[in-house]
Amino acid sequence: MKSLDWFLLLLIIVFTVLRSVKAQNQAGFISLDCGLVPKNTTYVEKTTNITYKSDADYIDSGSVGKIKDAYTTLFQQQVWALRSFPEGERNCYNVNLTANRKYLIRGTFVYGNYDGLNQFPSFDLHIGATKWSSVKILGVTNTSMHEIFHVVTQDSLQVCLVKTGPTTPFISSLEIRPLNNDSYNTQSGSLMLFARIYFPSQSSSFIRYDEDIRDRAWLPFSDNETMSISTDLPIGTNNFYDVPQAVMKTAAIPANASKPWYLWWTLDDVSAQSYVYMHFAEIQNLKANDIREFNITYNGGLSWYDYFRPPKLSISTIFHSIPVNSPDGKYNFTFTMTGNSTLPPLINALEIYTVVDITQLGTDKGEVSAMMNIKKTYGLSKKLSWQGDPCAPQVYRWEGLNCSYPDSEPSLIISLSLKESELTGTITSEISKLTTLKELDLSDNDLSGEIPAFFADMKLLKLINLSGNPKLNLTVPHSLQERVNSKSLTLILNPTLKGEGKKVPVIAIAASMAGVFVLLVILAIFFVVRKKKPKSTTAPGPQSVTARIVKTETIQSNPSIITKDRRITYPEVLKMTNNFERVLGKGGFGTVYHGNLDGTQVAVKMLSHSSAQGYKEFKAEVELLLRVHHRHLVGLVGYCDDGDNLALIYEYMANGDLRENMSGKRGGNVLTWENRMQIAVEAAQGLEYLHNGCRPPMVHRDVKTTNILLNERSGAKLADFGLSRSFPIDGECHVSTVVAGTPGYLDPEYYRTNWLSEKSDVYSFGVVLLEIVTNQPVIDKTRERPHINEWVGFMLTKGDIRSIVDPKLMGDYDTNGAWKIVELALACVNPSSNRRPTMAHVVMELNECVALEISRRQGGEEMYSMASVDHSLSSASEFAPGAR
Ligand SMILES: *[C@@H]1O[C@H](CO)[C@@H](O)[C@H](O)[C@H]1NC(C)=O
Ligand SMILES: *[C@@H]1O[C@H](CO)[C@@H](O)[C@H](O)[C@H]1NC(C)=O
Ligand SMILES: *[C@@H]1O[C@H](CO)[C@@H](O)[C@H](O)[C@H]1NC(C)=O
Ligand SMILES: *[C@@H]1O[C@H](CO)[C@@H](O)[C@H](O)[C@H]1NC(C)=O
Ligand SMILES: *[C@@H]1O[C@H](CO)[C@@H](O)[C@H](O)[C@H]1NC(C)=O
Ligand SMILES: *[C@@H]1O[C@H](CO)[C@@H](O)[C@H](O)[C@H]1NC(C)=O
Ligand SMILES: *[C@@H]1O[C@H](CO)[C@@H](O)[C@H](O)[C@H]1NC(C)=O
Ligand SMILES: *[C@@H]1O[C@H](CO)[C@@H](O)[C@H](O)[C@H]1NC(C)=O
Ligand SMILES: *[C@@H]1O[C@H](CO)[C@@H](O)[C@H](O)[C@H]1NC(C)=O
Ligand SMILES: *[C@@H]1O[C@H](CO)[C@@H](O)[C@H](O)[C@H]1NC(C)=O
Repeated sequence: MKSLDWFLLLLIIVFTVLRSVKAQNQAGFISLDCGLVPKNTTYVEKTTNITYKSDADYIDSGSVGKIKDAYTTLFQQQVWALRSFPEGERNCYNVNLTANRKYLIRGTFVYGNYDGLNQFPSFDLHIGATKWSSVKILGVTNTSMHEIFHVVTQDSLQVCLVKTGPTTPFISSLEIRPLNNDSYNTQSGSLMLFARIYFPSQSSSFIRYDEDIRDRAWLPFSDNETMSISTDLPIGTNNFYDVPQAVMKTAAIPANASKPWYLWWTLDDVSAQSYVYMHFAEIQNLKANDIREFNITYNGGLSWYDYFRPPKLSISTIFHSIPVNSPDGKYNFTFTMTGNSTLPPLINALEIYTVVDITQLGTDKGEVSAMMNIKKTYGLSKKLSWQGDPCAPQVYRWEGLNCSYPDSEPSLIISLSLKESELTGTITSEISKLTTLKELDLSDNDLSGEIPAFFADMKLLKLINLSGNPKLNLTVPHSLQERVNSKSLTLILNPTLKGEGKKVPVIAIAASMAGVFVLLVILAIFFVVRKKKPKSTTAPGPQSVTARIVKTETIQSNPSIITKDRRITYPEVLKMTNNFERVLGKGGFGTVYHGNLDGTQVAVKMLSHSSAQGYKEFKAEVELLLRVHHRHLVGLVGYCDDGDNLALIYEYMANGDLRENMSGKRGGNVLTWENRMQIAVEAAQGLEYLHNGCRPPMVHRDVKTTNILLNERSGAKLADFGLSRSFPIDGECHVSTVVAGTPGYLDPEYYRTNWLSEKSDVYSFGVVLLEIVTNQPVIDKTRERPHINEWVGFMLTKGDIRSIVDPKLMGDYDTNGAWKIVELALACVNPSSNRRPTMAHVVMELNECVALEISRRQGGEEMYSMASVDHSLSSASEFAPGAR
């Protein structure tokens, strides 16, 4: 019989085994009463005898609170106090555990109107870098318990509360219990509790420690289809599952023995993989000719177990070693007496879990420990994002870090910026443990002591910025100096330039030509482009430093025309636009008019009030723009939400969009290569800010040349955030219901999988770059290859970059730069999102393209002297406050 092998293969039944189980007295238990003060308090909870202590040593953020006194009598003491997290997106507990052990981890949440707001919070729980569950509080006194069985891979574990909406996450207690390594094994992933029930005869409360030595919570279950039976005799419960006596001493049988008996439940997540554990023991005293034998089938006839006879007063546990699932989320188990059976079926306890995929690998554990030590050394706990895993999930990456995310390996830190972080003391050697670090920025702090020699041994380190640390002894160790001399490393020691009093976005530079020389040589080798090599210049002096524009983002909002109260009435809109006199264009969700607000030109986008869709986008855009400011994002001056009239009022971008400028529709001169590089880098910075500078990060979702607008000085800004969305929280549905975006720019992977990530924007941006270089339509059915990506790839097989570069440039561009940007663009449009670079990388590369172009304009060899500095500063100062 076919199904027989099947079940032999999959089904595991665990009978009693001879094991001595010492009721270890809370050994290995970690029982935290969150928010308990003072921090050295401990107490023994009366009903369980569990010793709880304050969570203060396990977390360094959050504020303490207490449920309202009126509710305390309803609950065990460990939920009276709680810790809430009004600040930061992700706040984490750090717990020391034993690597490779399996643990039960349980968070308990009782709201009890602790904040007097009577608003029920909802938020997510993460374990390490993976989402484990969503907490949704349903009532003031509802207890929410979230439990997971998890094998920790490292000797520490992070349990994080993640804000997902306007409400504030909180936690009442956090409990961790070691589990038997041989129980609850899965093929992969951890087990999240869905239900754990037993069948007591009369209304009983739940069972936990110390009846359950593992401190699982067993909830009583009864309904009118089942009856409960019980025994006083002891049950042999010694299998790996350590089910408590009190649970096994009762059992359910069908109320009506002649009818088939169903046990069923529904999982909301229909894609969930599920593990079901059934515990049985015969607890009736059977007469000689009595037989209790039954078949268990599920979901309309699939065999679970045939001819089962529960062993007398002894446990057996039935489960499948591979998970089961059900396309509609419904699980319906049927218990049927077999022909020879004289007694109805029975079950003592049932556990149901769903699998949580722990696919998201965290950061390399050595690097985690180094970062934790750095955080501790410099007292950086005030950095809100410095919680949980440093690199993962990417959305919650620590501010100032950049990481590499290799497939199926832990993440590694590639850049660390602690600029302006009030660091004091010496430079910690923990930094040397970040073995793949490429860039380190410790500028503008108060560090003292010497420059450590270990920097010289960090082979990948390319850039160190120590400027703006007045107490630092600037003597460069010999070994480090050698690396600087050999140009394998750039060391910035001089203070950054500062505007008088005002904070001008600063560009750190230095005036050595050697750096550019290296850059060019590398490029020449890389692209195998034959070009006259620049003459070697004199070796740089001991402290001559970088020749690169070091990206420093002190992002300033543009305060000029943004008024405090930005809500505007419809009559004001009418006045502003002079009754919609002049149309500027038609956008995604309505027409854009020219307007005049207190003497400043503005663009007014009226939303067509017909579409419900439009209102959602409108709200999204207002919300986003009210919290996002960047000099390369079009700023919101105001908005109008006046009955049916919805309008967004933006700063006016005098030169229209990039597409128009490329196509020559606006007349005027062709955008020069330098203009184009500058526009590309600025748009890229805007996008990079959405991805890395905002909390939570955003995906633009509609990057295209018509959404890149130019002001009167051809400064570029990214516009139209109507489709933008915050990144979905990891593990939750990343899948958006509607694939939105513009054909041609749409990431094929996103289109295929509905899987939204910032890499979709990178794809679209790659298409934009190709347009900037080629000035070709994105899709042209008359071309050999209709899509620009394919066309460029096809043309390049002939090996000549000139065949694709916009002929309107009349050859006035740098071939190296063109190659570089095309390579970059093609990397961005890689069909596999994993292979695409990040926007941070794109910005860096584009900066180099700008530098190349500038150096070319300066006439080859004298490239990149102070002149480029001036250029950079002048373009930066355009955005300085007050410059308008
Ligand atoms: C807790 O700490 C306070 C002072 O910090 C001390 O007075 C008190 O005795 C401590 N209590 C316990 C139980 O250690
Ligand atoms: C708690 O411990 C005390 C003393 O050991 C014992 O008398 C009491 O029965 C225990 N309570 C529970 C609920 O186990
Ligand atoms: C966890 O271990 C680290 C070092 O191994 C130690 O510094 C830290 O205090 C421990 N944390 C707790 C809460 O015991
Ligand atoms: C638990 O089992 C896993 C394999 O399932 C093994 O790698 C690990 O070492 C075991 N841990 C302990 C503490 O026995
Ligand atoms: C818990 O929330 C549910 C709402 O789903 C409500 O029906 C129930 O009464 C609440 N229980 C308590 C104890 O507040
Ligand atoms: C059980 O209760 C439900 C409603 O709660 C009722 O519809 C059903 O008829 C009852 N079944 C029996 C066997 O009494
Ligand atoms: C369970 O399955 C049986 C037949 O297989 C069906 O009669 C019953 O309605 C099902 N119960 C539920 C809740 O789907
Ligand atoms: C129990 O299962 C066996 C094997 O699938 C089947 O032959 C038998 O008919 C089943 N008995 C009942 C009563 O369903
Ligand atoms: C019923 O029991 C008899 C004798 O114990 C056995 O021969 C027969 O195979 C059993 N029938 C089933 C369906 O198990
Ligand atoms: C800086 O360090 C060097 C090398 O250790 C030492 O010789 C020098 O005296 C120090 N300078 C100051 C100002 O402390």
